[in-house]
Amino acid sequence: MNQKNEKIILTGDRPTGPLHLGHFVGSLVNRVKMQDECKQFVMIADMQALTDHASQPDLIKESILQVAFDYLAVGIDPKKTTIFLQSLIPQISELTMFYLNLVTWNRLKHNPTVKQEIKQKNFQESVPAGFMIYPVSQAADITAFKADLVPVGDDQLPMIEQTNEIVRKFNRIYKKDVLVEAKALIPKFARLPGIDGNAKMSKTLKNAIYLSDEPDILKKKVMSMYTDPTHLKVEDPGKVEGNPVFTYLDAFDSDKESVQKMKDHYAKGGLGDVVCKKRLLEVLDNFLAPIRQKRKDFQKDPKHVLDLIFKGSEDARKVAAKTLKEVKDVMHMY
Ligand code: TRP
Repeated sequence: MNQKNEKIILTGDRPTGPLHLGHFVGSLVNRVKMQDECKQFVMIADMQALTDHASQPDLIKESILQVAFDYLAVGIDPKKTTIFLQSLIPQISELTMFYLNLVTWNRLKHNPTVKQEIKQKNFQESVPAGFMIYPVSQAADITAFKADLVPVGDDQLPMIEQTNEIVRKFNRIYKKDVLVEAKALIPKFARLPGIDGNAKMSKTLKNAIYLSDEPDILKKKVMSMYTDPTHLKVEDPGKVEGNPVFTYLDAFDSDKESVQKMKDHYAKGGLGDVVCKKRLLEVLDNFLAPIRQKRKDFQKDPKHVLDLIFKGSEDARKVAAKTLKEVKDVMHMY
């Protein structure tokens, strides 16, 4: 914690495309809420994006702004939150090099998130070394700011565990509590399924609804959503559990009573998918309309947004430089 006794938050996203509803429920909600109570740093993780998108520098460059537009559009306020770019903080890379010696290769190979991503991205035998070590660079992201809290979806829990192992080992070996252990802040809806019914909404799986989706695209996606495949006729009883239409309604419809009524009706039989989807479309459109509008306003002045990121990066660099100095001191590095 810092002098003002407020908690410090560090979190971020890889800029490989615009952000989607999964990002929103998984961590953007918490960031908007926590920025009033904590000192918050939000990082656009372009270095980490390179670990699985090294061959697409144009995509990363363009996505940096896309992600920043999304942040601002959902209400992350640059007056309260320091938004910065990872590659502008070389101290993070330096910390990563130090930490790499505190982690075994075997440990990295068994990180469940890394293992799952390797499968999902179809790397097979060609996993980039930088990808294998990204949990260590993520530990550097978090510890460079001495973050106490990390608002993330539950798929990121192994990263926090890895971070804390490094923190404990570092402090033990170098005999001083320089680094701070972090806690994950997992929201109620830790994971949103994809529109195809897959357990996770993700860009890679092409099953995402983006915060920036225009109404016609939103409509197409919602109306084509996976539901209960055994619910063929309206009068058939339908499954609510594992039906993404109802999961989304749970997450976004504030009228809980009407959602419950729909669920009961659907389970009993007599309620068609189209009716449920239309309700969901209305709910999501109401939710996204103001975000879309705010995003368009920021898009009109990309230079202003870039300046915000550069200014934030300057502030972030000072904090990271201070930590790096402490780290090097206890390691007896000149
Ligand atoms: N790994 C995160 C993701 O894939 C992004 C990220 C990078 C991050 N550094 C972080 C998240 C530090 C939290 C804290 O979305």
